Parts: sequence; C-alpha cells; structure tokens
Amino acid sequence: MIIAVDGPAAAGKGTLARRLAARFGLNYLDTGLIYRAVGWAVLQSGGVPADPQAATAAARRLDPSLLDRPELRDEAAAAAASQVAAIPAVRAALLDFQRRFAAQPPGAVLDGRDIGTVVCPAAEVKLFVTASLEKRTERRLKELLDKGESAIRERVLEDMKARDERDSARSVAPLVPAEDAVLLDTSELDADAAFAAAVAIISQRRPAG
Ligand code: DC
Repeated sequence: MIIAVDGPAAAGKGTLARRLAARFGLNYLDTGLIYRAVGWAVLQSGGVPADPQAATAAARRLDPSLLDRPELRDEAAAAAASQVAAIPAVRAALLDFQRRFAAQPPGAVLDGRDIGTVVCPAAEVKLFVTASLEKRTERRLKELLDKGESAIRERVLEDMKARDERDSARSVAPLVPAEDAVLLDTSELDADAAFAAAVAIISQRRPAG
C-alpha cells in the first residue's frame, strides 16, 4: 500500500504521515527533506539555490544518509529547498529515488507536494492536507519559539506566503491536489483529531487495513 500525503508547509502533514506509517506498518519518507538536502548542499558549496546548474548537480549527488541532519530543519534550508524545487531537472533527478523508496515492501507513506500527482500517481490513498495560512503561521511560529529561535509573526507569515506562492506557481509539479485526493483541512483539528480523520478515510478506502 502507498499513501500519498501532500499539502502546503505547516499543515500538519509530517506528524500525520509519520503516525500513519506507524499505524499501518509502512515505511515513511519526508520528501521535503530531499529538497532541503539539495538546497542546503548548494548553500554549503557557496552556490545560489536558484542556479539550475548548481542545484541539478547537487540533486544528482544527493546522499540519502544526510537526511537526518538537524540543519535541514532550519528556515534557510526550507527557503533554499523551495527554490531548487522549482527547477525541472532537480525534480527529475530526485524522482527515481522517491519511486524506488515507495516500491519497497511493505509499502510506504510519502509526504510532500507532488506525491499523488507525479511521484506515486497510482497510490491507493491520497490525502491533501491543508490549513488556513493563519493557522499554519501560528504553528510554524510556535515550532520556532519552542526550538529557542527568535521569530517574528509577520516575518513567518511573509516567508510562508512566499513559499506557498513559489510551490503553487511553478511550472513543474506545482502544489495542487490530485483529482482523486481526499481533502483534509486541519485548521480546527489537533494532531490526534487529524490522525483519527485520516485513519477513517484510509479505512474506508481499504476496509482490510
Ligand atoms: O515539506 P517541506 O517544508 O520540508 O518542503 C520544503 C520545500 O521542498 C517546499 O517549499 C517545497 C519543496 N518540495 C517539493 O517541491 N516537492 C516535494 N515533494 C516536497 C517538498
């Protein structure tokens, strides 16, 4: 079984996807981390993430063992990720890795932006997880403050908007729900309620699960 979990930043996809993987005994891949690793590698080498040559070279050299690095969670890596993610050759270079991961038994939950539309269009279940910009900003702000980082609400909101726009407006694999995706709005749901709603959707699609 493959479960695709797509949606914008800070909608709650990561927590939800990880819990679904544990619940259904599946592997889990946070595909945002792959783009973050590429963006971060470009920054490390003194390059510019929007430079197609530098970004594509970094994507071809992706080392999956780097995906655990805490630096990838930083806002700098997030911003670089959304820039490299707009480059078609970068996306093409990362596609194979994601599909091979998804194909490994017993199946997987992948979260990202284009899992249901491009990476795994035949996924048994596709969830599109959203929340209002307001709620997502609050969540990201809390996350940053909990990590001990200084953060200003207005700045977090502007960064989030800029990233939404880049992810949604790009010509290749933009952030859009797959036609057969089930929408899950977590604006008024906490993590447990979102998980319960997702399990109900998956169980409907797959009664044996
Ligand atoms: O989910 P995240 O915030 O870690 O993702 C970082 C960036 O990577 C995000 O701005 C868009 C991009 N991304 C993508 O284009 N496709 C994916 N499948 C996952 C992430």
